[in-house]
Amino acid sequence: MAEHIAIFDTTLRDGEQAPGYSMNLEEKLRFARQLEALGVDVIEAGFAIASPGDFASVQAIASAVKESTVASLSRALKKDIDSAWDAVKAAARPRIHTFIATSDLHLEYKLKMSRQQAYDQAVAMVIHARNLCPDIEFSAEDAARTDRDYLCRVVEGVIDAGAAVVNIPDTVGYSMPQEFGDLIAYLMNNVPNIDKTILSVHCHNDLGLAVANSLAGLKAGARQAECTVCGIGERAGNAAVEELVMAIRTRKDLYDYSYNLKTEELYKTSRLLSSITGVAIAPNKAVVGANAFAHESGIHQHGMMANARTYEIMTPESIGLKKTTMVLGKHSGQHAFVKRMEDLGYTLNAEMATKLFTDFKNVADKKKEITDRDLIALMESGTHAAPKIYELDTFVVNSGNNMTATACVTLRRDGKKMQAVEMATGPVYACFKAVERIIKHSYVLEDYQLRAVTEHRDALGEVLVKISDNHGVYRGRGVSTDVIEASMQSLLAAVNRMIEVEEHAVAETEESDHSAGRKAKEWIRLSEEALSRDMKVSGTVKEDVSKEHHHEK
Ligand code: KIV
Ligand code: ZN
Repeated sequence: MAEHIAIFDTTLRDGEQAPGYSMNLEEKLRFARQLEALGVDVIEAGFAIASPGDFASVQAIASAVKESTVASLSRALKKDIDSAWDAVKAAARPRIHTFIATSDLHLEYKLKMSRQQAYDQAVAMVIHARNLCPDIEFSAEDAARTDRDYLCRVVEGVIDAGAAVVNIPDTVGYSMPQEFGDLIAYLMNNVPNIDKTILSVHCHNDLGLAVANSLAGLKAGARQAECTVCGIGERAGNAAVEELVMAIRTRKDLYDYSYNLKTEELYKTSRLLSSITGVAIAPNKAVVGANAFAHESGIHQHGMMANARTYEIMTPESIGLKKTTMVLGKHSGQHAFVKRMEDLGYTLNAEMATKLFTDFKNVADKKKEITDRDLIALMESGTHAAPKIYELDTFVVNSGNNMTATACVTLRRDGKKMQAVEMATGPVYACFKAVERIIKHSYVLEDYQLRAVTEHRDALGEVLVKISDNHGVYRGRGVSTDVIEASMQSLLAAVNRMIEVEEHAVAETEESDHSAGRKAKEWIRLSEEALSRDMKVSGTVKEDVSKEHHHEK
């Protein structure tokens, strides 16, 4: 019988730690719910002691998620472990994940500890954690560069202390697949009580080998793999869950394992991550990139028509992408539109269907054929939960190669129109200055990305902006056939998030007795309301955004 592999997702901890990927509480909660739908066995929700915002999000996820185990990371320190437990104890299946570095390099230069001290600390802290929580995972940080016999001793000690899972990270992505497989085999053969635990692998991608190393570790006996969606994570990232699981599914002849993950949710999960973080997925990204199932060359197309297996080793349907022969355009009705959205993995409630169908019709008036990529872009910009505080009424720009650009922008707030005219070196810059003047709130433009959604001449332009003020970092996304309009939409989405936090912060100081727990509960309530309204959420938590700011500066 096929042996079971557990998938431990650390997108919300190792992934979120990476610059540019930070999320606020509402976004983490939304993503955690999708991870649950994806069927991951464990969600590492964060590092509870890192900040009040981290604590509140781990706690909120622990209370909301019912199927997956919810873990919090903690150093092998009492106060970390106690905080991790406080954050996860409401979970249906709580786990404390505690770690200490074991390589000589880390012991000497980072921890300034002897091997024996680190061993004693690891064992004592697993015992402490085990007294609080029935499910303990221990990680030996930098295990891949740790002396093998010392590593065996640590693993044996923490198993005796009660670690149900022992994780072997290649923290700096240094290992080669053969070598990493050998390390896992060595532990399997030399740790006397190894049958009392599950060995886990956690591989970083510094040399592009995270998935290969994880597969080698599984082959050698590990039964849990730690991954992130799209491989996001520290530096070059972690093993990508979609690559690892699709490798197992596609090469069942070599990896005969069972797993709970529903691969049909992979595409949707990767899109949700991109839409929340504002970081685009590279078109050539394995499994979920826009080109992963595109066959451009004549030879390939001919082969595909004769038999899809000539060039396709997995089907688009297996990751949740449904093929279509139906082309949507301006004569398509709402029914066909909603059906196609469903095929792409998005279930729309009546309100969202009406809103997105209006956006779709506006685009279809200007663009003959609407592709799936256009629909996804519309979906992502239309549902990214930005509050509607300032709305675009009109803009007029005047620009050319030998002149200063001018923008006249009119915004509406609470039905009142406000207008400003600004000049700058380019039309987008002039528009952004005009918005800043109207809202009377200065901000820094941290990032601006413009891309064409498809290759065609009439392609939609998609703009992602990131702005910051002294409370945090805010993202926005906009899509239009006019790139200035897309820029305005994305800026207004970000600006509205910023204004909301500002106004929320003022309200919060007036009512300053909110505890982290109360906030978490409020967020679950908001999120549940949001889900029933299909991802329309308002409100945010100040601490999370401040942390974001701190991270990204
Ligand atoms: O890469 C690593 O070693 C980690 C541990 C904390 C599990 O992320
Ligand atoms: Zn890591």
